[in-house]
Amino acid sequence: MKDISVCMGSSCFSRGSAAIAALIQSYVKEHALEQWVNVSGCLCGGKCKNGPNVRIDGTLFSHIVLETLPALLDQKLADIGGN
Ligand code: FES
Repeated sequence: MKDISVCMGSSCFSRGSAAIAALIQSYVKEHALEQWVNVSGCLCGGKCKNGPNVRIDGTLFSHIVLETLPALLDQKLADIGGN
């Protein structure tokens, strides 16, 4: 099970983390990865300056933008079922 956690703290939220979480959720659905990937929100992790922040299996990815997020997901989720 992969764990994707989107920071929903106020700073990341104001930088678009809601849209990021929505994109991740629809990506997971489109690729039928629901049983392999757990998407959740988390509280501020103290790295606000670098937000919006997303953790994938504990690794922090910063400055997430919608344009490049699908490529990151492709890369990080390529080794699990459905792809
Ligand atoms: S609000 Fe996301 S790290 Fe602080």
